[in-house]
Amino acid sequence: MKTILDFSRAKREQHPIVMIACYDAQMAQLVAETEADAILVGDSVAMVVHGFPSTINATLDMMCAHVAAVRRGATNLVVVADMPFLTFRRGKHAAVEAAGALMQAGASAVKLEGVTGHEDVVAHLVGSGIPVMGHLGLTPQSVHQLGGYRLQGRTPTEAERLRTEASSLEQLGAFGFVLECVPEALAAAITEERSIPSIGIGAGAGTAGQVLVLNDLLGLDARFQPRFARRYLDGHALVREAVSNFARDVRGAKFPAREEVLA
Ligand code: KIV
Repeated sequence: MKTILDFSRAKREQHPIVMIACYDAQMAQLVAETEADAILVGDSVAMVVHGFPSTINATLDMMCAHVAAVRRGATNLVVVADMPFLTFRRGKHAAVEAAGALMQAGASAVKLEGVTGHEDVVAHLVGSGIPVMGHLGLTPQSVHQLGGYRLQGRTPTEAERLRTEASSLEQLGAFGFVLECVPEALAAAITEERSIPSIGIGAGAGTAGQVLVLNDLLGLDARFQPRFARRYLDGHALVREAVSNFARDVRGAKFPAREEVLA
């Protein structure tokens, strides 16, 4: 998948879209060597890399630096950049400035949470030539309003609101949307109703694609293991073991070995 246009083709052809959230050049280069379709530079970087308690702490400067690093690592992949907290709620002018900075840092598109109340911003970004991805369901920037990281769309009213928001995004010209933590049947129904693809996370098997955070997929954080994030590696144990082995070798005078000493 090389461009934003490939997203709707993938949906039409029922080719499941694979998106990976990652944050640095080395990991982006690795992802670019796989069959993944796109990279998301998520504002989860604030939590995963910078150790903040929520994505609310992601700033535009932070996001731009990580987008630029990812772009240097993955020159040919679609790179979607999260618009940080409130940057799309201060009016069209501020939003286009923020999105412009992310695009100039190397993004192919921006992602923003929700749609109700900033429909004009989504339309303005799309009209300015900036591809927009939506993000519905659990929108982590609203964690305080949502009362925590919990499943969304459980009541008929909530479900109806999500359906309407997905429809609005499509009408406003978004090329796709993330559906986070919603019941599988609802996610599948929304996916069926829309011609733009849904990329699920914690939304079951009926979405047009799936996204996972690379650090979760690699099992790097032993404390954070949500049920929906399959661990393809026990990275936490492997990294611990590697570092412990290094420490053991240094203290046992086994590192460096003769062949590791520069002449
Ligand atoms: O910030 C992020 O990594 C995301 C994904 C979880 C979809 O938005």
